[in-house]
Amino acid sequence: MATVSIENRGNIALVLVDNPPVNALSHSVREGLSNAMKACSNDDTIDAVVIACQGRTFIAGADIKEFATGPKAPHLPEVVQEIEDMQKPVVAAIHGTALGGGLEVALSCHYRVALESAKIGLPEVKLGILPGAGGTQRFPRIAGVENALDAILSGRHVKAKQALGWGALDELVADDLVEAAIAFAKGAISKGPRRTGAMEIDSSKYDQAFFDAFRKSIARRTRGYFAPEKCIQCIEAAVRLPLKEGLAFERAAIGECFVHPQSRALQHMFFAERQVSRIPGIGKETPRREIKKVGIIGAGTMGGGIAMNFANVGIPVTLLEIEQAALDKGLAVVRKNYERSAAKGKLSGDDVEKRMGLFNGTVSYDDLSDCDLIIEAVFETMDIKKKVFTSLDAVAKDGAILASNTSYLNIDEIAAVTKRPTDVLGLHFFSPANVMRLLEIVRADATAPDVLATCVDMAKAIGKVGVVAGVCPGFIGNRMLSPYGREASLCVIEGAKPEEVDAAMYGFGMAMGPLTVSDMAGLDIGYLNRKGMDRASYETKATDWYDRLVESGRKGLKVGAGVYDYDEGSRTPKPSAEVMAIIEEESARLGVERKPKTADEIIERCMLALINEGAKILGEGMAYRASDIDVVYVNGYGFPPYRGGPMHYADSLGLKNVYEKICSFADEFGPRWWEPAPLLKELAEAGQSFADYDKKQVG
Ligand code: 3HC
Ligand code: NAI
Repeated sequence: MATVSIENRGNIALVLVDNPPVNALSHSVREGLSNAMKACSNDDTIDAVVIACQGRTFIAGADIKEFATGPKAPHLPEVVQEIEDMQKPVVAAIHGTALGGGLEVALSCHYRVALESAKIGLPEVKLGILPGAGGTQRFPRIAGVENALDAILSGRHVKAKQALGWGALDELVADDLVEAAIAFAKGAISKGPRRTGAMEIDSSKYDQAFFDAFRKSIARRTRGYFAPEKCIQCIEAAVRLPLKEGLAFERAAIGECFVHPQSRALQHMFFAERQVSRIPGIGKETPRREIKKVGIIGAGTMGGGIAMNFANVGIPVTLLEIEQAALDKGLAVVRKNYERSAAKGKLSGDDVEKRMGLFNGTVSYDDLSDCDLIIEAVFETMDIKKKVFTSLDAVAKDGAILASNTSYLNIDEIAAVTKRPTDVLGLHFFSPANVMRLLEIVRADATAPDVLATCVDMAKAIGKVGVVAGVCPGFIGNRMLSPYGREASLCVIEGAKPEEVDAAMYGFGMAMGPLTVSDMAGLDIGYLNRKGMDRASYETKATDWYDRLVESGRKGLKVGAGVYDYDEGSRTPKPSAEVMAIIEEESARLGVERKPKTADEIIERCMLALINEGAKILGEGMAYRASDIDVVYVNGYGFPPYRGGPMHYADSLGLKNVYEKICSFADEFGPRWWEPAPLLKELAEAGQSFADYDKKQVG
């Protein structure tokens, strides 16, 4: 079937795009639109044109899958120019989302009618590129320079009502979109075309100082990214140059983005996030269980935040604590979080009360008997978790899903205390649980497919990206964190200052340096864990100096002293002479001659440790795909999205190089921590990448 068809509605041509699932601008759509414009121009019975889409949305953008090979003519900029140059009025009828190239098509139409529920946006920056079919030139012309900077630099979806206010849409309708657009087109015949490209921008307001101030305002958010600066330069060009020259500037700028490794990395992330829900053995036909009511056990740091996710989407939550005082405290924190959002204007006072109204606090397990999903978030101790699951097993209704938010513990062991291990799995949220997008869904040995499928859907429903992991200590993310942290700490013992290690990793693009993260998490947590472990099981060179800090009262940010000093009430780390003295003593005690380290050396040590562990996880089947690991690291651990996650980063270095370097580390530091992952060796020797490995995986 043709992806673009024309239906004559009297003297109006209805051009319909039909390219499921999101009407992306694949070659056939571009060609179809171009042909349709020619046909409408040549048809004397037609006086105006409406472009509309079948299915769930207006055109959602260029076909990202074509980026790898480069699109064939006709190219989108030519097609949109053809639409804008039409002598008969062209009206876009927008439902769903008009995004990227889709919005550029709409902007080249002479008028735009939209459903009230529609959204528009130019999300290209999130893919490491920029609106390259006139979006950077036409959007500021029609919506204003400030609004264009907002939309193009954030890539956010703008609601129809706001877009109408900006002038980017002409009319909103509640329903009957196509009929409304046809009526609009009839009315436009006498007015004729109104070309966005011909609109003028009053350039006097937008001088260098204006753009520099804007650059400063987004500098933190766009640190390390290539495309945002290019987007700004294009909008500056729109202010400065006539359309044709501005379009040429945009063309050159998008070319630079396309050849930059960041665009490949960000496009990798786009598809990686959509792959995660493809689970071997699970399909549309797998039954799902209904989740109408959720129970949470433990209202501490995690429990309250986890509960908020459900209340936010209208699902009632029963929150259970050990005693009333802890419950009241937990509920008060939840209320405070909502009130903070309300103070920022993100929620109304009514919303706060509506959400709080969905909470039911209890200290009795009996009150969990009507819950469809119960998530445990109590202390991280196997004995306590087992007791909780035994109690749960006694009260939960048949078919309820029982989940643990444990960070490291064995879910199989927890499941085994129940009479229903098929209903048990891990749901590992990240702190703050109401904010962080990542959810690790831990599939235990016995977890039933419908339980897993339900939780994969549930993750999406509460706005999380849910990645399935197998049962191993720390699952995907925390397991990889351990060698990463070990190498960061060893770099300190070998000669780097803590702030140098943090600066190197921050410079690489991590949201925070590893030692700052340790201070935030609390050094005492690892310390207490180690007390229950055999010293032979971990690298004491990397941990003894931490132990000394904890024993001297430096437990981290919460007490104002850890690896760093903190001024009263401040979260800004300051190098500590006391800590440096302890580190130097430890280096001497260990017989390590301290030598300065470059940022590149530090990055290499930390990153290769991360990658090697990722390859072990993959080889052991604890993650389905390398790209799933990337999703975990980007969404849960502050890894820079523009590097595409650790596994994509490894591919960009070349697995042969990665493997050889790890082998050389094994020679230099001993094989104990540097034995190359068997899968890494196999892929490197075969000249393959993690992306090649992923292509062979089911789903
Ligand atoms: N190209 C190719 N495939 C696309 C696509 C695109 N632009 N947008 C979505 N898809 C695919 C997804 O990969 C997914 O495929 P799958 O089912 O095989 O995994 C399928 O369409 C459905 O997508 P979602 O799961 O994301 O569906 P949702 O309903 O959750 O979201 C959406 C729909 C809001 C349209 C979302 O898909 C989206 O944000 N898409 C990307 C939009 C975008 O970035 N557009 C700009 C493209 S770049 C551009 O236009 C350049 C131009 O300026 C020259
Ligand atoms: P927390 O100490 O802040 O809260 C635990 C809460 O559980 C306390 O309020 C306590 O009163 C309650 N509790 C203890 N035993 C209970 C019982 N038998 N019945 C009911 N309530 C009980 O701990 P936090 O940080 O919320 O951690 C909870 C779990 O989440 C742990 O397993 C932890 O490993 C995991 N986790 C923690 C993360 C974090 O960053 N804090 C991140 C991801 C997972």
